[in-house]
Amino acid sequence: MPKLAVLGGEPVRRQPLGKWPIITDEEVEAVARVLRRGKLFASMYSSEEVAKFEEEFAAAVGVKRAVAVSSGTAALDVVLRAIGLKLGDEVITTPYTFIATATSIVHNYAVPVFADVDPRTRNIDPDEVRRKITERTKAIVVVHIAGHPAEMDEIMEIAEEKGLYVIEDAAQAHLAEYKGRKVGGIGHAAIFSFQESKNMTAGEGGAITTNDEELAERCVSLREHGRRRDKPWYYHESLGWNYRMTEIQAAILRVQLRRLPAITEERRRNAERLSKILSEFDFLRPGYVAPYVKHAYHLYLADYDPGKLGVSKAVLARVVQAEGIPLSEGYYWPVYENPIFSDPERMPEVPFKVIGRQVRYGRGLCPVAERLCYETGMWFPGHMLNAPAEELEDVARALEKVARAGDELREAARKLS
Ligand SMILES: Cc1ncc(COP(=O)(O)O)c(C=O)c1O
Repeated sequence: MPKLAVLGGEPVRRQPLGKWPIITDEEVEAVARVLRRGKLFASMYSSEEVAKFEEEFAAAVGVKRAVAVSSGTAALDVVLRAIGLKLGDEVITTPYTFIATATSIVHNYAVPVFADVDPRTRNIDPDEVRRKITERTKAIVVVHIAGHPAEMDEIMEIAEEKGLYVIEDAAQAHLAEYKGRKVGGIGHAAIFSFQESKNMTAGEGGAITTNDEELAERCVSLREHGRRRDKPWYYHESLGWNYRMTEIQAAILRVQLRRLPAITEERRRNAERLSKILSEFDFLRPGYVAPYVKHAYHLYLADYDPGKLGVSKAVLARVVQAEGIPLSEGYYWPVYENPIFSDPERMPEVPFKVIGRQVRYGRGLCPVAERLCYETGMWFPGHMLNAPAEELEDVARALEKVARAGDELREAARKLS
């Protein structure tokens, strides 16, 4: 039996599985076009590529407006300011997410309240949202994690009943669909990220999408120091930022957007192949996909059963990675176990101390998310699904090798601990 690569054996593969990002001559030409034009900067008063990208992205999502910004994080900061959060307002969100979903709430002087997730999709559980609503709740930020849409019908129903804003964090969910509707146009507004790992990218970049024209204009203003299109540049009516996107970013994104449907379809086809491969193993199972969604596969989620192999998911990840397959542990802990939330000394004065309430975040708050993070939740990067289909067979070879490793696996666990 071949020796595990982590113990010095020959790995199943040496080449990366799936190259990312995909950059072609089209992107090179688009950048050259901007450089030849000699205008790199875009603003609310004048832009070529950014204005066209905003129109094209809005059309792709099926909304009235898209507002381009410098990152997904900037998009969250802006949209949460634009809905008018006040000091001490509560915003309900998910613990199974990237840090910016939660910190953008604090940057807007509001208090994040974490509602546990559905163990199957890892998305916020509408029943848990209901339980966390108080008279201070102002908004819900749902995340379509990995590219699997959250339960938007139930979320919108709760929001309507209680008069809350719903912001979709679709940073990982370009072109995902929920019951025939594209995400990004279901809540009151949504955000997208175009950072390097995302399904379309310019290295960095972000956008806000919405059907609310007034909200979109507030976002444009906040993106640009609180200015207004109908006033001179030195007129600043609100507390904004410089979160503008450049012409070069937009030119690249226009090309990437044209390629996105094909990239996404290929990921969906290869996800089915990967699910078939995983269904042969009892220790790593394909992640659940609801029958009424179209997944965007920023990530391919898989569920680990630590009891089957007798090693932790951290060990499994290291062993499989050594074989040349990029299996990841995913989020190591729920977002609220990062020191910025769990250590009261690190919390900013505003809003936590000003509101005169101690807010405690820590272990036990969301048991489902904690189990996912610590024991069972793993993922493969979505770009692996843009590798040639036959190369995915290497995943089967690597898992087969691990499944048969027996004592070697325990030796690896000792070595890695
Ligand atoms: C769920 C989620 N929200 C927000 C962001 C922030 O996007 P960006 O990296 O473009 O700032 C990310 C990026 O990783 C993300 O995954």
